[in-house]
Amino acid sequence: MAYLKPDQPEKVYVPALRPAKERGEKLACLTAYDYPTARIVDEAGVDIILVGDSMGNVIHGYGNTIPVSLDEILSATKAVKRGANRALIVSDMPYGSFHTGDNKAVSNALKLLKYGGAEAVKLEGGRNRVGLVKRLVDEEIPVMAHIGLTPQSVHKLGGYRVQGKTTDDAQRLIEDAKMLEEAGAFAIVLELVPREIAEIITREVKISTVGIGAGPSCDIQVLVLHDLIGFTFGRQPRFVRQYANVSKVITDAISEWMDDVRSGEYPNESESYGMPEKVKLDELISTSAR
Ligand code: KIV
Repeated sequence: MAYLKPDQPEKVYVPALRPAKERGEKLACLTAYDYPTARIVDEAGVDIILVGDSMGNVIHGYGNTIPVSLDEILSATKAVKRGANRALIVSDMPYGSFHTGDNKAVSNALKLLKYGGAEAVKLEGGRNRVGLVKRLVDEEIPVMAHIGLTPQSVHKLGGYRVQGKTTDDAQRLIEDAKMLEEAGAFAIVLELVPREIAEIITREVKISTVGIGAGPSCDIQVLVLHDLIGFTFGRQPRFVRQYANVSKVITDAISEWMDDVRSGEYPNESESYGMPEKVKLDELISTSAR
């Protein structure tokens, strides 16, 4: 299904997001970290692909996003870029890539655009990142901000919990969203915040809100693809709706293949190659016996 109006260019660019919000059109964003999933997600019509640092949990098995490196995001972005034609490609700035000074952060973001093919970057943080967001936007780098639960702060937060549950915290989130909009961000991820707060922020800012565990009011919904298709391990957060069980599909396929290998049923004649008839196998055998 195409989400943008037919009079808009088929490729999704950052400027298409605001009119979509104004029309009340909901957009869809999914993660991808490699060529085949990027192709599938893009061809399915998803509007935005996030090369997220959730790859730390999902494909590298690190247990959290802290160890993810810029090189890992860069390599994934290149693969995603090769697989996606239409979706806007946003690459995450991993932990450590924007924490040691704005010049270093700009240079790292530039790498994602220049060598990876990203069309925007995402970075976690509220008012503490306003200066950096301004700087990146000044350098022609579109920025998606990210507030609420920011998984790169897991050690400071002491876990993955819903954020903005007191009046003060909620007020702070609303202010952060406005400050990030003012700084030039084109969208803001709202992760794990009460739906009422997401609704207020979505109403109060002109830029798009991108919700994950933030209720239905957000302009864009984002999920980790592997959660949606059931290709992860362990308990899922309550906001995940699992639409398939890919782990089971893979396990069943492997089991069937192993049964066929063990019974000698795989590979059969059409799955292997024969010698051309002109080669006399008898001669071959007698030659090799000499
Ligand atoms: O890394 C990621 O996939 C994200 C989304 C969950 C928003 O940050």
